[in-house]
Amino acid sequence: PSYPKIAGQHKDYLFVALKSYKTENLSTWGRSNGVMGGIAKQYSNNELKALSAYVGSLDTELKTVPQSKFR
Ligand code: HEM
Repeated sequence: PSYPKIAGQHKDYLFVALKSYKTENLSTWGRSNGVMGGIAKQYSNNELKALSAYVGSLDTELKTVPQSKFR
């Protein structure tokens, strides 16, 4: 349950998420996660873009779920 489902996620979102793992300790847009840092840092931004486009093109379980404004 602690692993995000990313197949079919918007590719721009995936790219920004992956790129942010290359920058740790920057609270505005960096992300700190040991595993994902190790993965993301191996790739150039162009490679992360290609990876994001591929993952974003996969079949997805993601869907938009309307929420009540007054929960
Ligand atoms: C090329 C391989 C991988 C890709 C493309 C990838 C991609 C991603 C992306 C895009 C996110 C952000 C999800 C979001 O914000 O919604 C993420 C987060 C995460 N990934 Fe990966 N991942 C890879 C490998 C792995 C591996 C091997 C593991 C574990 C062994 C892993 C564990 C996690 C975890 C735990 C998070 C959440 C981290 C957090 O809270 O910031 N990932 N991954």
